[in-house]
Amino acid sequence: MKGQGKMVLNSRLKWVGLVGLVLSAFSLFIHFLLARFTEDGVIEYQSSITVFSWRPIFESANFPRTSPMYRRLWGPIRHLESLHPDANPRGNYAVTDPSSQTNGFIFVRIRGGFHEIRNSICDVVAVSRLLNATLVIPEIQSTTSSKGISSDFKSFAYLYNEDQFMAALAKDVNIVKTLPKNLKWARRKKEIPSFKVPYSASPYYYLNQVLSVLKKHSVVELVVPEGGCLQAILPPELEHNEELQRLRCRVAFHALQFRQEVQELATKVLFRLRAPGRPFIAYDPGMTRDALAHHGCAELFQDVHTELIQHKRSWMIKRGIVEGKLRVNSAKQRLSGSCPLMPEEVGILLRAHGYSWDTIIYVSGGEVFGGQRTLIPLHAMFENVVDRTSLTTPWELNRLYGHEANIITSSPRTPPPIEKEMKHEAWKTSGPRPRPLPPPPARPKSYNIEGWWGWVAESDNEPESTVMELRTNAHKLLWEAIDYVIGLEADVFISGFDRDGNGRPNFASLVMGHRLYQSAALKTYRPDRKEVSKLLEEIHDHLYHANHTWLKSVRKHMRKRLLDGLIEASTKSKPLSFLSHPVPECSCLRYDSNETSFHASSPSPQSQVQAALRVVHRCPAWMDSDLILRSKDKDNEEDLDEDDSTSSGLFFRRSGENHESGGGDSNNKEEAQLDDLEELEGGER
Ligand SMILES: *[C@@H]1O[C@H](CO)[C@@H](O)[C@H](O)[C@H]1NC(C)=O
Ligand SMILES: *[C@@H]1O[C@H](CO)[C@@H](O)[C@H](O)[C@H]1NC(C)=O
Ligand SMILES: *[C@@H]1O[C@H](CO)[C@@H](O)[C@H](O)[C@H]1NC(C)=O
Repeated sequence: MKGQGKMVLNSRLKWVGLVGLVLSAFSLFIHFLLARFTEDGVIEYQSSITVFSWRPIFESANFPRTSPMYRRLWGPIRHLESLHPDANPRGNYAVTDPSSQTNGFIFVRIRGGFHEIRNSICDVVAVSRLLNATLVIPEIQSTTSSKGISSDFKSFAYLYNEDQFMAALAKDVNIVKTLPKNLKWARRKKEIPSFKVPYSASPYYYLNQVLSVLKKHSVVELVVPEGGCLQAILPPELEHNEELQRLRCRVAFHALQFRQEVQELATKVLFRLRAPGRPFIAYDPGMTRDALAHHGCAELFQDVHTELIQHKRSWMIKRGIVEGKLRVNSAKQRLSGSCPLMPEEVGILLRAHGYSWDTIIYVSGGEVFGGQRTLIPLHAMFENVVDRTSLTTPWELNRLYGHEANIITSSPRTPPPIEKEMKHEAWKTSGPRPRPLPPPPARPKSYNIEGWWGWVAESDNEPESTVMELRTNAHKLLWEAIDYVIGLEADVFISGFDRDGNGRPNFASLVMGHRLYQSAALKTYRPDRKEVSKLLEEIHDHLYHANHTWLKSVRKHMRKRLLDGLIEASTKSKPLSFLSHPVPECSCLRYDSNETSFHASSPSPQSQVQAALRVVHRCPAWMDSDLILRSKDKDNEEDLDEDDSTSSGLFFRRSGENHESGGGDSNNKEEAQLDDLEELEGGER
C-alpha cells in the first residue's frame, strides 16, 4: 500500500512539473503575441500585422473615406437616417408594479436553435405580461447539462445574462429564477398542467384557454418546440397590442444580453476585425442542412452532401414539416429564388457592386453546409475572408465553454451490421487442388471519415446524436452569439438566405431586424434571389468577365434592394417573425424642420420610404438635442451609381489570376488605376 502511495505521489509530481512547463511555454507565447501587437500597432502598406491566423493584405495603405465611392459602398442609407429606435412604452400604457398582481407562475421549456430561442423568449415574456403572470427564467433545452455542457451553467445562463434580463424587465414582468419549492416538487412529479404551444398561437388562445388553468393551479408549464409561441402580428383589436410589440423589442434588443464571457469575446473579435482600421462586411451564408432540405436544394451539391440533404428532406416529409415530393428540381428552385445564394454568387455580387479584392469579409454561421469547399470561390475573390476561427484562439473558445467533463470517445459509433459473406465453407470443399490462398479475413468495417456523415451510405436511419454532437450543438449557440454581435455591428451586412428549416425567418433575418431597429441607416443588402439568379444566368459561361452593361444592372439592383428589400420584408418576414422586422412599432422619426422645404417640389424619397414603412411616431424631444449634422452635399446615391462608367470586363480579372500565378501585380495596378479613375470621376462632379 505504502509503495503504491509513493508511486502515485511520484507520478503526481511529474504531472505538476509538466503542467508548469506547459504554463511557462504558454506565457512566453503570450508575451510574444503582446509584443507583436503593441509594436506593430500601425498598419503599413501591404499591411504587416498578423491578427492571429489572419494576415490582412491590403492594396494600399491609405483608405480614402471621403470619396463618393466610399459613400456608395460604406456610407449610411440616406433615406433611413431619420429612423431611430424607440421601444419605450407610449401613452397611457401602465408601467405598474407587476409583482402586485400575479395570476400564477409560467414555467417555460424552449427547444430549437439560436434564432428560435431568441424568438421564443420574447414571445413568452409578452405572454406573461398578457396574462399578468410571473415568469420563471425559461429553460433552454439544448443547453441543459444532460447535453454534455459544463455544469457551471444553468441552461438560460449558458447563453444569456440572467440578472440583466430580470433587471431590464423589472417594470414590465415579474421574473423569478426558479419556481417556489412546493411547485418545483409538483413539477418533478409531473403534476402541473402543461401546454405544448403552436408557433403562432393567438393571444386569445392564452386568454381563453391558458388563463383559467393558470388561475386554478397558479402554475402552468409551456413547452415551446417550434421557435415561437405568439402571433407575429397581433390582432389590432387586442388592447395594447402595440405595447406588447414594444415589449418584445425591449426583450430582444435590451434585456437579452449575452453572458459576460460571450460578450467579452465578441467584443475582442470585433476589435481584431477593426484593427486594420477599415470597414468590413459581415456575410451570413444561411446554408444549413435543414434549410436546404426544406427548400429542395439538394442537387446544388454533390455526392454525400446531396444524400445528406435528401435524407433530411425525407425525414421532414415523413413528419409533415415539408409538403411536396422528395425529388425536386433544384435548378428550378434556385431560379425561382428559393435556394440560398452560394458564396461564389455573393462574392460576384459584391465584386460587381464595387467592393475591392482587399475588402474584409467576416463569414458568420455556426453551420455552413458543404463546409469550406463552398467558400473557396469567395476566398479566391477576396483576400481578407475571415471567420470566428481565424480571430480567436482555441484557448479563448474553450474558456467560453467552461469546465466540461471528459467524454470518452474511444468507442466509435458502431456501424450497422453488415451481412457476413459465408463463402469459406464452400471454398474448402469445392474446386480442384492446389488452391490459391483463402481470401483474407474481412476487416471490421469502421467509418474512415471521422464524424457525422459516415452512416449515410450504409443505413437509412440517421444515428442518434452522440453526447459529443449535442455538446457541439450547444457550442454552436455560443459561436452564433459571437456572429450575432459581429453581424449587428458590421458596416455592411449581406446574407445568402433568410429562411430556416421550417421556412421561417432565420438567424440572418433576426440580425437584419436588429440592425433595422438599432441603426437603420447601416447598409444591409437584401438581394432578390430570383433577380440575382437571372442576372447570373446571363453571364453563365463567362462568370468572371462581365461587361459594363451587366455590372451596371447589378449595381442598380443592389442599390434598389436596400429599400425594396426592406419593404418586402415588411410583408413577407414580419408576419412570420416580428423580430425580423420590428417596424413601425419600435421606431420613431426624427426630422429636422428644414427637411421638408428642401424637397418641396416633389415628395422626397425619404417620405416615400417612411410611408412604406408606416412610421409616423415622432421621436421624443430629448433625442432632438443631439441632432447630427447631416453632410451638406445632398448627393444622390443614384447619381453616384450611374457614374462609374470606367469599370469594365477587367473587373474580376485580378482575383482569378492571382490565385493561379500567385502574383498578379500588374493586374493589381490596373485595378488600382481603375478605382482611382472611378473615384476621380465621382469627385469631379
Ligand atoms: C392584468 O392587469 C391589468 C392591470 O391591473 C388588468 O387591466 C388586466 O385585466 C389584467 N389581465 C389579466 C388577464 O388578468
Ligand atoms: C453584356 O453582357 C450581357 C450578358 O452576357 C449581354 O447580354 C450583353 O449583350 C452584353 N452587352 C454588351 C454591350 O456587350
Ligand atoms: C432651418 O432653417 C432655419 C432658417 O430657415 C435656420 O435658422 C435653421 O438653422 C435651420 N435648421 C437646420 C437644422 O438646418
